[in-house]
Amino acid sequence: MTTTFDVPDVPAERLPELLRAMPKAELHIHIEGSLEPELIFALAERNGVKLPYADVQALREAYAFTDLQSFLDIYYAGASVLLQEQDFHDMAMAYFRRAAADNVVHAELFFDPQTHTARGVPMATVVGGLHRACQNAKVECGIDASLILCFLRHLSEADAFETLQEALPYLDRIVGVGLDSSEVGHPPEKFARVFARCGELGLHRVAHAGEEGPPAYIWSALDVLQAERIDHGVQAVHDPALMRRLASARIPLTVCPLSNQKLCVFPDLAEHNLGALLDAGLMATVNSDDPAYFGGYMNDNFLQVFAATGLDARHAYQLGRNAFEASFTSDAARQGHIARLDAVFDSFR
Ligand code: ADE
Ligand code: ZN
Repeated sequence: MTTTFDVPDVPAERLPELLRAMPKAELHIHIEGSLEPELIFALAERNGVKLPYADVQALREAYAFTDLQSFLDIYYAGASVLLQEQDFHDMAMAYFRRAAADNVVHAELFFDPQTHTARGVPMATVVGGLHRACQNAKVECGIDASLILCFLRHLSEADAFETLQEALPYLDRIVGVGLDSSEVGHPPEKFARVFARCGELGLHRVAHAGEEGPPAYIWSALDVLQAERIDHGVQAVHDPALMRRLASARIPLTVCPLSNQKLCVFPDLAEHNLGALLDAGLMATVNSDDPAYFGGYMNDNFLQVFAATGLDARHAYQLGRNAFEASFTSDAARQGHIARLDAVFDSFR
Protein backbone atom coordinates (compact mmCIF):
# COMPACT_ATOMS: atom_id res chain seq x y z
CA MET A 1 0.00 0.00 0.00
CA THR A 2 1.31 3.41 -0.94
CA THR A 3 -0.41 6.02 1.19
CA THR A 4 1.19 8.21 3.82
CA PHE A 5 -2.10 8.71 5.69
CA ASP A 6 -2.03 7.15 9.16
CA VAL A 7 -5.13 4.94 9.06
CA PRO A 8 -6.66 4.49 12.53
CA ASP A 9 -7.22 1.04 14.01
CA VAL A 10 -10.97 0.55 13.79
CA PRO A 11 -12.47 -2.32 15.77
CA ALA A 12 -14.30 -4.91 13.69
CA GLU A 13 -17.67 -3.95 15.16
CA ARG A 14 -17.27 -0.35 13.92
CA LEU A 15 -16.02 -1.27 10.47
CA PRO A 16 -19.52 -1.40 8.85
CA GLU A 17 -20.21 2.12 10.16
CA LEU A 18 -16.95 3.36 8.66
CA LEU A 19 -17.61 1.62 5.32
CA ARG A 20 -21.02 3.27 5.09
CA ALA A 21 -19.76 6.71 6.10
CA MET A 22 -16.71 6.99 3.86
CA PRO A 23 -17.19 9.15 0.75
CA LYS A 24 -16.88 7.04 -2.39
CA ALA A 25 -16.25 7.23 -6.10
CA GLU A 26 -18.04 4.71 -8.27
CA LEU A 27 -16.13 4.02 -11.49
CA HIS A 28 -17.87 0.89 -12.78
CA ILE A 29 -21.63 1.16 -12.99
CA HIS A 30 -23.58 0.28 -16.14
CA ILE A 31 -26.48 2.65 -15.86
CA GLU A 32 -28.76 0.17 -17.66
CA GLY A 33 -27.78 -2.27 -14.90
CA SER A 34 -29.30 0.04 -12.30
CA LEU A 35 -32.83 -0.49 -13.69
CA GLU A 36 -34.76 -2.06 -10.83
CA PRO A 37 -37.59 -4.44 -11.81
CA GLU A 38 -40.17 -1.96 -10.48
CA LEU A 39 -38.84 0.76 -12.77
CA ILE A 40 -38.64 -1.67 -15.71
CA PHE A 41 -42.37 -2.38 -15.29
CA ALA A 42 -43.24 1.29 -14.78
CA LEU A 43 -41.40 2.28 -17.97
CA ALA A 44 -42.92 -0.66 -19.88
CA GLU A 45 -46.35 0.61 -18.88
CA ARG A 46 -45.52 4.24 -19.73
CA ASN A 47 -44.19 3.23 -23.17
CA GLY A 48 -46.61 0.43 -24.02
CA VAL A 49 -43.81 -2.18 -24.15
CA LYS A 50 -44.83 -5.80 -23.59
CA LEU A 51 -42.43 -7.73 -21.35
CA PRO A 52 -42.00 -11.52 -21.41
CA TYR A 53 -42.51 -11.62 -17.60
CA ALA A 54 -45.87 -11.53 -15.81
CA ASP A 55 -44.79 -9.17 -13.03
CA VAL A 56 -41.93 -7.78 -10.95
CA GLN A 57 -41.63 -10.96 -8.95
CA ALA A 58 -41.43 -13.17 -12.03
CA LEU A 59 -38.71 -10.93 -13.45
CA ARG A 60 -36.72 -11.01 -10.21
CA GLU A 61 -36.99 -14.77 -10.09
CA ALA A 62 -35.29 -14.92 -13.49
CA TYR A 63 -32.17 -13.34 -11.95
CA ALA A 64 -30.35 -16.63 -11.39
CA PHE A 65 -27.20 -16.37 -13.45
CA THR A 66 -24.61 -18.99 -14.27
CA ASP A 67 -22.15 -16.80 -16.17
CA LEU A 68 -21.81 -13.42 -17.87
CA GLN A 69 -23.84 -14.35 -20.97
CA SER A 70 -26.79 -15.65 -18.96
CA PHE A 71 -26.95 -12.24 -17.29
CA LEU A 72 -26.45 -10.18 -20.46
CA ASP A 73 -29.44 -11.84 -22.16
CA ILE A 74 -31.77 -10.59 -19.39
CA TYR A 75 -29.99 -7.24 -19.03
CA TYR A 76 -30.50 -6.35 -22.72
CA ALA A 77 -34.17 -7.44 -22.49
CA GLY A 78 -34.65 -5.13 -19.48
CA ALA A 79 -33.17 -2.18 -21.38
CA SER A 80 -35.84 -2.55 -24.09
CA VAL A 81 -38.26 -0.39 -22.04
CA LEU A 82 -36.05 2.71 -22.50
CA LEU A 83 -37.44 4.79 -25.36
CA GLN A 84 -37.80 8.46 -24.45
CA GLU A 85 -35.25 11.00 -23.21
CA GLN A 86 -37.18 11.15 -19.94
CA ASP A 87 -36.72 7.39 -19.46
CA PHE A 88 -32.93 7.70 -19.57
CA HIS A 89 -33.10 10.66 -17.22
CA ASP A 90 -35.36 8.88 -14.73
CA MET A 91 -33.22 5.74 -14.75
CA ALA A 92 -30.07 7.71 -13.97
CA MET A 93 -31.77 9.85 -11.30
CA ALA A 94 -32.98 6.71 -9.52
CA TYR A 95 -29.37 5.51 -9.48
CA PHE A 96 -28.01 8.85 -8.21
CA ARG A 97 -30.51 8.98 -5.33
CA ARG A 98 -29.60 5.45 -4.32
CA ALA A 99 -25.87 6.13 -4.68
CA ALA A 100 -26.07 9.31 -2.60
CA ALA A 101 -27.54 7.26 0.26
CA ASP A 102 -24.30 5.21 0.12
CA ASN A 103 -22.17 8.38 0.27
CA VAL A 104 -21.11 8.16 -3.37
CA VAL A 105 -19.82 11.65 -4.23
CA HIS A 106 -18.38 10.96 -7.69
CA ALA A 107 -19.78 8.58 -10.32
CA GLU A 108 -18.68 7.73 -13.85
CA LEU A 109 -21.58 6.06 -15.62
CA PHE A 110 -21.13 3.49 -18.38
CA PHE A 111 -23.88 3.45 -20.98
CA ASP A 112 -24.41 1.12 -23.96
CA PRO A 113 -25.77 3.26 -26.83
CA GLN A 114 -25.82 0.38 -29.32
CA THR A 115 -28.44 -1.40 -27.19
CA HIS A 116 -30.70 1.59 -27.84
CA THR A 117 -29.76 2.82 -31.31
CA ALA A 118 -30.27 -0.74 -32.63
CA ARG A 119 -33.94 -0.35 -31.53
CA GLY A 120 -34.29 2.98 -33.32
CA VAL A 121 -33.69 5.22 -30.28
CA PRO A 122 -31.55 8.17 -31.41
CA MET A 123 -28.15 8.82 -29.81
CA ALA A 124 -29.46 12.34 -28.97
CA THR A 125 -32.22 10.82 -26.84
CA VAL A 126 -29.84 8.55 -24.92
CA VAL A 127 -27.12 11.13 -24.28
CA GLY A 128 -29.62 13.95 -23.72
CA GLY A 129 -31.47 12.15 -20.92
CA LEU A 130 -28.33 10.87 -19.21
CA HIS A 131 -26.55 14.22 -19.43
CA ARG A 132 -29.51 16.08 -17.95
CA ALA A 133 -29.52 13.60 -15.06
CA CYS A 134 -25.77 14.12 -14.53
CA GLN A 135 -26.40 17.87 -14.22
CA ASN A 136 -29.26 17.28 -11.76
CA ALA A 137 -27.14 14.83 -9.77
CA LYS A 138 -24.86 17.63 -8.67
CA VAL A 139 -27.71 19.87 -7.54
CA GLU A 140 -30.02 17.27 -6.03
CA CYS A 141 -27.58 14.63 -4.75
CA GLY A 142 -24.21 16.36 -4.44
CA ILE A 143 -22.68 13.88 -6.88
CA ASP A 144 -20.14 14.82 -9.57
CA ALA A 145 -21.18 12.64 -12.49
CA SER A 146 -19.86 11.94 -15.96
CA LEU A 147 -20.55 9.53 -18.82
CA ILE A 148 -18.44 6.80 -20.44
CA LEU A 149 -19.74 5.45 -23.74
CA CYS A 150 -19.20 1.69 -24.01
CA PHE A 151 -18.86 -0.23 -27.25
CA LEU A 152 -20.45 -3.68 -27.26
CA ARG A 153 -17.64 -6.12 -28.00
CA HIS A 154 -19.93 -8.84 -29.41
CA LEU A 155 -20.73 -6.42 -32.27
CA SER A 156 -18.34 -5.54 -35.09
CA GLU A 157 -15.61 -2.94 -35.39
CA ALA A 158 -17.68 -1.27 -38.13
CA ASP A 159 -20.62 -1.04 -35.75
CA ALA A 160 -18.38 0.60 -33.13
CA PHE A 161 -17.09 3.13 -35.68
CA GLU A 162 -20.68 3.95 -36.67
CA THR A 163 -21.55 4.48 -33.00
CA LEU A 164 -18.55 6.76 -32.53
CA GLN A 165 -19.65 8.75 -35.60
CA GLU A 166 -23.14 9.18 -34.11
CA ALA A 167 -21.61 10.30 -30.82
CA LEU A 168 -19.35 12.98 -32.33
CA PRO A 169 -21.83 15.85 -31.76
CA TYR A 170 -21.98 14.94 -28.05
CA LEU A 171 -18.32 14.44 -27.21
CA ASP A 172 -18.40 17.37 -24.78
CA ARG A 173 -20.85 15.30 -22.71
CA ILE A 174 -18.71 12.15 -22.63
CA VAL A 175 -15.51 11.78 -20.61
CA GLY A 176 -14.35 8.54 -22.18
CA VAL A 177 -15.08 5.24 -23.89
CA GLY A 178 -15.18 1.69 -22.61
CA LEU A 179 -15.61 -1.85 -23.90
CA ASP A 180 -18.16 -4.25 -22.45
CA SER A 181 -20.54 -7.18 -23.14
CA SER A 182 -19.54 -10.80 -23.94
CA GLU A 183 -15.82 -11.03 -23.25
CA VAL A 184 -14.58 -14.49 -24.22
CA GLY A 185 -14.07 -14.74 -28.00
CA HIS A 186 -14.04 -10.94 -28.40
CA PRO A 187 -10.48 -9.84 -27.57
CA PRO A 188 -9.51 -6.19 -27.27
CA GLU A 189 -7.59 -6.37 -30.58
CA LYS A 190 -10.92 -6.28 -32.41
CA PHE A 191 -11.31 -2.63 -31.33
CA ALA A 192 -7.71 -1.43 -31.73
CA ARG A 193 -8.52 1.07 -34.47
CA VAL A 194 -11.66 2.51 -32.93
CA PHE A 195 -9.89 3.00 -29.60
CA ALA A 196 -6.96 4.66 -31.39
CA ARG A 197 -9.41 7.10 -32.96
CA CYS A 198 -11.00 7.77 -29.56
CA GLY A 199 -7.53 8.56 -28.21
CA GLU A 200 -7.00 11.07 -31.02
CA LEU A 201 -10.32 12.64 -30.07
CA GLY A 202 -9.01 13.18 -26.53
CA LEU A 203 -11.27 10.66 -24.84
CA HIS A 204 -10.23 8.60 -21.83
CA ARG A 205 -10.15 4.86 -22.52
CA VAL A 206 -11.10 1.97 -20.25
CA ALA A 207 -11.98 -1.65 -21.03
CA HIS A 208 -13.52 -4.68 -19.39
CA ALA A 209 -10.82 -7.34 -19.34
CA GLY A 210 -10.12 -10.38 -17.20
CA GLU A 211 -13.66 -10.69 -15.86
CA GLU A 212 -14.13 -14.17 -17.36
CA GLY A 213 -11.48 -13.77 -20.05
CA PRO A 214 -7.77 -14.62 -19.75
CA PRO A 215 -4.88 -12.41 -18.56
CA ALA A 216 -3.91 -12.02 -22.24
CA TYR A 217 -6.98 -9.79 -22.68
CA ILE A 218 -5.70 -7.51 -19.89
CA TRP A 219 -2.29 -7.25 -21.57
CA SER A 220 -3.91 -6.29 -24.86
CA ALA A 221 -6.36 -3.87 -23.22
CA LEU A 222 -3.26 -2.07 -21.91
CA ASP A 223 -0.94 -2.40 -24.88
CA VAL A 224 -3.35 -2.40 -27.84
CA LEU A 225 -6.23 -0.25 -26.56
CA GLN A 226 -4.07 1.94 -24.27
CA ALA A 227 -6.69 1.45 -21.57
CA GLU A 228 -6.05 3.67 -18.54
CA ARG A 229 -8.15 1.50 -16.24
CA ILE A 230 -9.12 -2.16 -16.37
CA ASP A 231 -12.72 -3.02 -15.54
CA HIS A 232 -12.77 -6.17 -13.36
CA GLY A 233 -9.26 -7.52 -14.07
CA VAL A 234 -9.59 -10.17 -11.36
CA GLN A 235 -8.09 -12.88 -13.61
CA ALA A 236 -4.75 -11.03 -13.43
CA VAL A 237 -3.81 -13.14 -10.40
CA HIS A 238 -3.05 -16.03 -12.75
CA ASP A 239 -0.17 -14.11 -14.35
CA PRO A 240 2.61 -12.92 -12.00
CA ALA A 241 4.26 -10.73 -14.67
CA LEU A 242 0.96 -9.00 -15.30
CA MET A 243 0.47 -8.45 -11.57
CA ARG A 244 3.87 -6.74 -11.44
CA ARG A 245 3.00 -4.58 -14.44
CA LEU A 246 -0.38 -3.52 -13.00
CA ALA A 247 1.20 -2.69 -9.64
CA SER A 248 4.22 -0.78 -10.95
CA ALA A 249 2.22 1.21 -13.52
CA ARG A 250 -0.52 1.86 -10.95
CA ILE A 251 -3.25 0.74 -13.34
CA PRO A 252 -6.60 0.97 -11.54
CA LEU A 253 -8.81 -2.13 -11.48
CA THR A 254 -12.53 -1.49 -11.04
CA VAL A 255 -13.48 -4.63 -9.12
CA CYS A 256 -17.14 -5.60 -8.58
CA PRO A 257 -17.42 -8.20 -5.81
CA LEU A 258 -21.17 -8.93 -5.88
CA SER A 259 -21.13 -9.10 -9.68
CA ASN A 260 -18.30 -11.63 -9.52
CA GLN A 261 -20.27 -13.68 -7.03
CA LYS A 262 -23.58 -13.59 -8.93
CA LEU A 263 -21.91 -14.41 -12.28
CA CYS A 264 -20.03 -17.30 -10.65
CA VAL A 265 -16.56 -15.83 -11.19
CA PHE A 266 -16.15 -16.35 -7.41
CA PRO A 267 -19.33 -18.26 -6.45
CA ASP A 268 -18.30 -17.97 -2.79
CA LEU A 269 -17.56 -14.36 -1.86
CA ALA A 270 -15.14 -15.63 0.81
CA GLU A 271 -12.92 -16.75 -2.09
CA HIS A 272 -12.82 -13.32 -3.70
CA ASN A 273 -9.30 -12.07 -4.45
CA LEU A 274 -9.82 -8.36 -3.68
CA GLY A 275 -7.55 -8.60 -0.61
CA ALA A 276 -4.88 -10.44 -2.62
CA LEU A 277 -4.95 -7.73 -5.29
CA LEU A 278 -4.55 -4.97 -2.68
CA ASP A 279 -1.86 -6.82 -0.77
CA ALA A 280 0.08 -7.27 -4.04
CA GLY A 281 0.05 -3.47 -4.40
CA LEU A 282 -2.55 -3.22 -7.16
CA MET A 283 -4.74 -0.15 -7.37
CA ALA A 284 -8.05 -1.95 -6.84
CA THR A 285 -11.37 -0.20 -6.29
CA VAL A 286 -14.86 -1.45 -5.31
CA ASN A 287 -17.87 -0.89 -7.57
CA SER A 288 -21.38 -2.22 -8.14
CA ASP A 289 -21.38 -3.03 -11.92
CA ASP A 290 -25.13 -3.77 -12.34
CA PRO A 291 -26.58 -3.23 -8.87
CA ALA A 292 -30.22 -3.92 -9.73
CA TYR A 293 -29.27 -7.38 -10.99
CA PHE A 294 -26.55 -8.39 -8.53
CA GLY A 295 -28.26 -7.62 -5.25
CA GLY A 296 -26.43 -4.55 -4.06
CA TYR A 297 -25.21 -1.00 -4.50
CA MET A 298 -21.88 0.39 -3.29
CA ASN A 299 -22.30 -0.10 0.44
CA ASP A 300 -23.57 -3.65 -0.04
CA ASN A 301 -20.48 -4.42 -2.10
CA PHE A 302 -18.15 -2.99 0.54
CA LEU A 303 -19.94 -4.52 3.52
CA GLN A 304 -20.36 -7.98 2.05
CA VAL A 305 -16.86 -8.40 0.66
CA PHE A 306 -15.30 -7.07 3.88
CA ALA A 307 -17.41 -9.42 6.01
CA ALA A 308 -16.70 -12.42 3.77
CA THR A 309 -12.95 -11.93 3.35
CA GLY A 310 -11.90 -10.22 6.60
CA LEU A 311 -10.53 -6.97 5.16
CA ASP A 312 -9.79 -4.13 7.61
CA ALA A 313 -9.80 -0.33 7.88
CA ARG A 314 -6.47 -0.03 6.04
CA HIS A 315 -7.95 -1.87 3.07
CA ALA A 316 -11.03 0.37 3.26
CA TYR A 317 -8.91 3.51 3.16
CA GLN A 318 -6.82 2.23 0.27
CA LEU A 319 -9.92 1.28 -1.73
CA GLY A 320 -11.55 4.63 -1.09
CA ARG A 321 -8.45 6.58 -1.97
CA ASN A 322 -7.65 4.49 -5.04
CA ALA A 323 -11.07 5.28 -6.51
CA PHE A 324 -10.58 9.04 -6.18
CA GLU A 325 -7.08 8.79 -7.59
CA ALA A 326 -8.33 6.68 -10.51
CA SER A 327 -11.25 8.95 -11.34
CA PHE A 328 -11.36 11.16 -14.42
CA THR A 329 -11.87 14.39 -12.50
CA SER A 330 -9.92 17.59 -11.89
CA ASP A 331 -7.02 17.57 -9.46
CA ALA A 332 -8.84 20.13 -7.31
CA ALA A 333 -11.97 17.96 -7.03
CA ARG A 334 -9.83 14.88 -6.35
CA GLN A 335 -7.95 16.63 -3.52
CA GLY A 336 -11.23 17.80 -2.02
CA HIS A 337 -12.67 14.29 -2.04
CA ILE A 338 -9.51 12.81 -0.51
CA ALA A 339 -9.50 15.47 2.22
CA ARG A 340 -13.09 14.49 3.11
CA LEU A 341 -12.14 10.81 3.05
CA ASP A 342 -9.28 11.54 5.46
CA ALA A 343 -11.62 13.52 7.73
CA VAL A 344 -14.06 10.62 8.00
CA PHE A 345 -11.25 8.21 8.87
CA ASP A 346 -9.85 10.72 11.39
CA SER A 347 -13.26 10.83 13.07
CA PHE A 348 -12.90 7.09 13.84
CA ARG A 349 -9.66 7.60 15.79
N1 ADE B 1 -22.43 -5.10 -19.35
C1 ADE B 1 -23.09 -4.90 -18.21
N2 ADE B 1 -22.49 -5.54 -17.19
C2 ADE B 1 -21.40 -6.16 -17.72
C3 ADE B 1 -20.38 -6.95 -17.19
N3 ADE B 1 -20.31 -7.29 -15.90
N4 ADE B 1 -19.43 -7.43 -18.04
C4 ADE B 1 -19.47 -7.13 -19.33
N5 ADE B 1 -20.42 -6.38 -19.87
C5 ADE B 1 -21.37 -5.88 -19.07
ZN1 ZN C 1 -19.15 -4.08 -16.06
